[in-house]
Amino acid sequence: MKGVILAGGSGTRLHPNTKVTNKHLLPVYNQPMIYYPIQTLMRAGIEDILILPGRENAGDFAKLLGSGRDFNADFYFKVQDHAGGLAYAVGLAEEFVGDDNFVVIFGDNIIEDNIIQDVQNFKEGAKVFLKEVLDPKRFGIAELNGKNVVNIEEKPEEPKSNWCVVGMYIYDSKAFEYIKGMKPSSRGELEITDLNNIYIKKQQMQAGFIKGYWFDTGTHHSLVDAAYKLKNTEKPMEPLSLEQKDAPKVVLGGILYDTKKWGYGTSKYLKYFMDSVGAQDYPNVELVFVDNSEEESNANTDFFKKYYPEIKIIRPGFNTGFGKANNIMIDYAKKQKADYFLSSNVDMIYNPGVITELVNAIMKTPQIGSATCKLKRWDFENRNSDTQGKTNFLDTAGHQITKEHRFLDRGQGEIDHGQYDIEEEIFGASGALAIYRMSSLEDIAFKNENGKMEYYDELMFMYKEDVDINYRLQFAGYKCIYTPKTVVYHDRSVEAKTGGLIGIVKGRFGRKKLYKEWSWLNHHIILKKILDGKFSSDIRLKTMWFEFKSGVFVLLFERHLVRQWWKLFKMRKQIRARKEQLKKRVDIKSHIEKLMID
Ligand code: TTP
Repeated sequence: MKGVILAGGSGTRLHPNTKVTNKHLLPVYNQPMIYYPIQTLMRAGIEDILILPGRENAGDFAKLLGSGRDFNADFYFKVQDHAGGLAYAVGLAEEFVGDDNFVVIFGDNIIEDNIIQDVQNFKEGAKVFLKEVLDPKRFGIAELNGKNVVNIEEKPEEPKSNWCVVGMYIYDSKAFEYIKGMKPSSRGELEITDLNNIYIKKQQMQAGFIKGYWFDTGTHHSLVDAAYKLKNTEKPMEPLSLEQKDAPKVVLGGILYDTKKWGYGTSKYLKYFMDSVGAQDYPNVELVFVDNSEEESNANTDFFKKYYPEIKIIRPGFNTGFGKANNIMIDYAKKQKADYFLSSNVDMIYNPGVITELVNAIMKTPQIGSATCKLKRWDFENRNSDTQGKTNFLDTAGHQITKEHRFLDRGQGEIDHGQYDIEEEIFGASGALAIYRMSSLEDIAFKNENGKMEYYDELMFMYKEDVDINYRLQFAGYKCIYTPKTVVYHDRSVEAKTGGLIGIVKGRFGRKKLYKEWSWLNHHIILKKILDGKFSSDIRLKTMWFEFKSGVFVLLFERHLVRQWWKLFKMRKQIRARKEQLKKRVDIKSHIEKLMID
């Protein structure tokens, strides 16, 4: 599905404000008018957008919007040479749309609803969006027969309904043929009403019903009304840049652990971690930790008692693993009314500006559910006052998945020479550092066997639960953004990459048995949850072939993993219950598979 925004016209009703500029560049509350239709399209998962400005200020649109990179979309521009009417303008999109279907939206319409379902279910014909109004005599009004539109009447004396036509339509590519056959109206223009009437005559015009607010901001009054509404709504549409004074609330959550049993602990990092977090410029962040250590008094709690007694530490009294600890902190963030939850390891040092840049990346559109930044290796053991142990080896530039459903960290072990310096959409964030939109987490949460909501899947004790959450966010239509604008250093041993099977084998023999067991089990929990017939046969075959090969490998070299097969079998009911609750809103082939690499 493509998107087309009409941004021409003369805007005479807004004179003198539109004497030297285009209506769609005027501000509506905190952003230019054209941002709103862009966001309406993007919320519906539409990223290829053609913008049709009039000739006068065409250059200003390019200046304001650029290629779309800042919006994580692709913008195209084509000029309306003259005011030939709305259907003429739609006709200009022919080459851009090709055989696809497309949404047309007037650049001066502000629409709160998310039309993603309409977009996904649309097959052919046309759909017009309607909003119920109290004064139907002022608008174009649809006459309905169930969900079919049988007539549209402009400013009717005797309205047949209260359903007013808003400036948003979906058409199939036949629209272009119809437009070519149309004649100009009495005012010399190709009218969009005439195009709609062709679909109506063919009984191919469906109605979509808008429930949220809708503004046509073409007059002084409606422009001010829209601005007031946006200002006063509990959650105004998010501005595209960060205003320091009412910065959204971030809860940063980290897991602490200290055990003599495994000789591993987080306390040695805390001084460095807390210093770097303390140096962040972000004005609205609260910290919370889950201490997974068994002993109540341990080096972590001692550190916080001494230096940061005000910080909230939650102690479950046992080792909850990664997912459950994060769920506890997300519940806490919810109580604190946070907008975003930043899940962070503590074996890290942040460069300045990390939280600000993460918030900047995630807040651009509500469609973005998570974000992460560049992680490089922190050589903690060999730190010195000069480098602090910061290295130029990449730890991760976010998660990617292969067509065989192997989960990889982008860039891991590579020397950073700028190869990941583009802000872009990726499959998901590494759990080591990921900021999540709270509303997205709540949206993808599921009910467990005890009726409690889980964000992270607690079936997974540790390892790959971040991949699982990435999948669920993607399925539900939320994107993940990687920003290279800032760096965090992370103490995880990164070996230079060895390609091919030898590399995999080497990597596996180097890892502890228990980690491998968690990793294997969780990998298969994910596969059981997400893999189904919606994936293309190519992906399913590749995944099955890889699974077969790794099964043989397990039988030959890693017999201890066979026990995990039994564990997986015992979990089948719980896994099925989770699978049934998955929110699958996107088309797997065009969304998920697009992000898979060879
Ligand atoms: P209108 O608001 O109906 O027209 P207008 O922008 O010319 O305003 P006025 O009546 O005040 O002179 O247009 C609806 C939308 O379609 C609006 O976003 C502008 C856009 N449009 C075009 O892109 N091309 C056109 O030729 C016309 C007339 C409008």
